[in-house]
Amino acid sequence: MKLYIVENYDELSKKAAEVIAEEIKIKNDIVLGLATGSTPEGMYAELVKMHDNGEIDFSNASTFNLDEYYGLDDEHEQSYHYFMNKHLLKKINIDSKKTNIPSGCTDDVEKVCKEYDEKIEASGGIDLQLLGIGMNGHIGFNEPGNYFVGETHIVNLTEDTLDANARFFETLDDVPKKAITMGMKSILNSKKILLIASGSGKADAMYMALRGPITPKVPASILQLHQNLIVIVDNEAGAKL
Ligand code: GLP
Repeated sequence: MKLYIVENYDELSKKAAEVIAEEIKIKNDIVLGLATGSTPEGMYAELVKMHDNGEIDFSNASTFNLDEYYGLDDEHEQSYHYFMNKHLLKKINIDSKKTNIPSGCTDDVEKVCKEYDEKIEASGGIDLQLLGIGMNGHIGFNEPGNYFVGETHIVNLTEDTLDANARFFETLDDVPKKAITMGMKSILNSKKILLIASGSGKADAMYMALRGPITPKVPASILQLHQNLIVIVDNEAGAKL
């Protein structure tokens, strides 16, 4: 594991964008695994700047997002489709046919999940997977539980996650109770993983993920097994590492 503890959120955003930009420069048909949440917003803004300067080119890249709320359509302002379009995908020269996010609006969840995994596999697998972390140690929407789930699947969000994400919705009741998330297989099969975290609220989760036992009760702890993990945290999130 390579661990970078940087001064603050700005530094984190710049450093994370640099890591991704380097990979795109090495492999212009890169397959990127992308994440949502407030943590990567600054990093996406940096990537958009680099794209605008002509430093990086997304024309041959493809992307797979980690997750989507179940029941929100793509246009919903809190859907991850909307988030990705707003922060990155509509601001760069990527071919929209090469961007993938699980559909949250489907009657056939099983089919959506199966096809998502097949598409990831057909792409040759993810070259670089970006991850944030939930305060309960979740990655994507792989919530704490008694076992790790390998495939893309539908999950019941935990009370912790509903509370943490309520800030984006008018009321707690508006937060979708389920989500579709990439499973651990596609995440761990990624050639490289970049995990980012910011703020004191993530210090315990980061400690449990990187220094605690590997357990499905802290889904991010499985990342300790990955051969090519880069972690970038700010001082607050890295306080216990
Ligand atoms: C969300 C997402 C995760 C994200 C995490 C942390 O629920 N499903 O992919 O990493 O929670 O979000 P934030 O960066 O807003 O703290």
